[in-house]
Amino acid sequence: MKIIVIGGSGLIGSKLVNKLREQGHEAVAASPHSGVNTITGEGLAEVLKGASVVVDVSNSPSWEEKAVMEFFTTSTRNLLRYEAAAGVGHHVALSVVGTDRLSESGYFRAKIAQEKLIKESSIPYSIVRATQFFEFVKGIADISTDGNMVRVAPVLFQPMAADDVASGVGKVAVGPPVNGIVEIGGPEQFRMDELVRRRLAALKDSREVIPDPKALYSGAKISERTLVPAPNARLGETRFEAWLSAMPR
Ligand SMILES: NC(=O)c1ccc[n+]([C@@H]2O[C@H](COP(=O)([O-])OP(=O)(O)OC[C@H]3O[C@@H](n4cnc5c(N)ncnc54)[C@H](OP(=O)(O)O)[C@@H]3O)[C@@H](O)[C@H]2O)c1
Repeated sequence: MKIIVIGGSGLIGSKLVNKLREQGHEAVAASPHSGVNTITGEGLAEVLKGASVVVDVSNSPSWEEKAVMEFFTTSTRNLLRYEAAAGVGHHVALSVVGTDRLSESGYFRAKIAQEKLIKESSIPYSIVRATQFFEFVKGIADISTDGNMVRVAPVLFQPMAADDVASGVGKVAVGPPVNGIVEIGGPEQFRMDELVRRRLAALKDSREVIPDPKALYSGAKISERTLVPAPNARLGETRFEAWLSAMPR
């Protein structure tokens, strides 16, 4: 199948393109890097010619509230319009477990808007909601830092390796559209503060991680199960410790 990976140069996109090619698919990495821009429409009609599936694993260059909303709504509208014209039969998008519970966050309001546009479009679709990537745990510390302290809510947390995210999205992309949501997550549960502390220790980062039940996540209040997937989620294989020991320090 010809499968277009929008955001194919990114963390998940580059892994996904490789996995699909290994399975014999014609996977095309599409992003501004390769002359395809979902905001301006540049290169979209050309790249979508003959495509069966479009997988959107792009992300907004800015996470500022207005910019991120503008990115996901404009990009998704353009994609769906060009896909309809090209006769694409399956739109797959990567979203985040708990998106609907995080509407206090500007970033997640944009993901909610992205999901809504997809659900309301005429293109058969699958939305894959993943938990946080192991690769993003340091990013969580960075967005939660105040001086030398990192305030993180001690809530349940079930992150996964980017490699497993790409495998999970790849399986959905080559299957029939589910016209709904598939959740994927990591094989283990932790407390978020514990995992951020372990990641920073491995990086020899001296910031102190403080468990703070009132700490916000991306601007939203969270509680015990906000970030964990439902019991029927498909789980990745990679454990955090194995991922950590394979990481260059
Ligand atoms: N971080 C997490 O823990 C987490 C958890 C669950 C789900 N997600 C979701 O995963 C998705 C992908 O994240 P990621 O970390 O893999 O992203 P990433 O590494 O930041 O890559 C972003 C990609 O988007 C592309 N892009 C930016 N502007 C574009 C445009 N105008 N047109 C087309 N492509 C454009 C970039 O292309 P260039 O390289 O050419 O600029 C790049 O390929 C996001 O939608 C995010 O919501 C993230």
